[in-house]
Amino acid sequence: MSSISYKSAWKSPSNIALVKYWGKKGMQLPANPSISFTLDNALSDTSVEAIASESQSGISVELYFESQRNEAFEVKIKGFLEKALSAFPWLNNHHLLINSTNTFPHSSGIASSASAFSALALCLCSIDEQMKGISDPAFFEKASHWARIGSGSACRSVYGGFNLWGQTTALNGSSDEYAVNIDDIIHPVFKTFKDTILIIEKGKKAVSSTAGHALLNAHPFADIRYASGFKNTELLLEVLESGDLDKFIQIVESEALMLHALMMTSPTPFILMKPHTLSVIEKIWDFRNQTGLHLLFTLDAGANVHLLNPESENDRVQEFVKNELVGYCQNGLYLCNAVGNGPIKTH
Ligand code: DP6
Repeated sequence: MSSISYKSAWKSPSNIALVKYWGKKGMQLPANPSISFTLDNALSDTSVEAIASESQSGISVELYFESQRNEAFEVKIKGFLEKALSAFPWLNNHHLLINSTNTFPHSSGIASSASAFSALALCLCSIDEQMKGISDPAFFEKASHWARIGSGSACRSVYGGFNLWGQTTALNGSSDEYAVNIDDIIHPVFKTFKDTILIIEKGKKAVSSTAGHALLNAHPFADIRYASGFKNTELLLEVLESGDLDKFIQIVESEALMLHALMMTSPTPFILMKPHTLSVIEKIWDFRNQTGLHLLFTLDAGANVHLLNPESENDRVQEFVKNELVGYCQNGLYLCNAVGNGPIKTH
């Protein structure tokens, strides 16, 4: 007799932060609010099968990444599932079979924890609904909450468009526990934004994001940073509503460089930018001065550069990338993304 099983599959995207989450408190809560947009072309495609197993005691998980059993990921996911037991008690008597692939090139240096944990949390919430036989009106909030427990930035990936995570008086309904979608205040120009990710360096980062967050605990500038994060969230919300591209550029680039300045000034300093990262930034500033176009950059916790621009300027920007920037990319690799519509349920 075959055992009872439940299955769910989601394709869920990565996101790029405009105001950064860097520093945390309590149970994976952010020290300041952050704002991001969801990407359309950097996805994790994850399926989860929960197979009833009465004899089981404790979490049991088997994980295949890009079709290969991955024991290192199993350990990480098991740690996450232990925390999720309070919401999904059936994890104690169901064996989980997880299959996951990424649409972006393996080890391109693109943060995959946001897409991976958002996809996994969505699958768990869907299976939970199947088991209970009811649909949860707070489904996406719940998925965002559990994605956050897996990896903070993942909570901003369960919706499309623009999202805010972290409590701020500047937005009703905002929460430290989960992200909220803010598309209803977004000026149309931002909804067309492109994100061309220049792969300056592939592979694993020298310092993980989790270790980077921890360095903020004893950082001399931590409080100033958190205050700036709150202020920039407030300012960016106004700009996202008004469509003021010049102010947008100022806030987003300052956030990117502040993130890296924090790394460089932490008690155990480190530098994730590479010489090519700086060369690209200079090129972008020259290009902007010469053309008056609205091309800007942001960085996540790595050497790669995200080029952001409105769609109406994309032909000129792509020409610039091909003629002047591709030489700074490792093996000439860059990935074309735009503001995306968010996760898709495939099973
Ligand atoms: C620089 O979400 O990867 O990308 O919560 O420890 O998993 P953990 O960290 P993570 O940190 C992301 C940091 C960032 C900024 C951001 O996405 O807001």
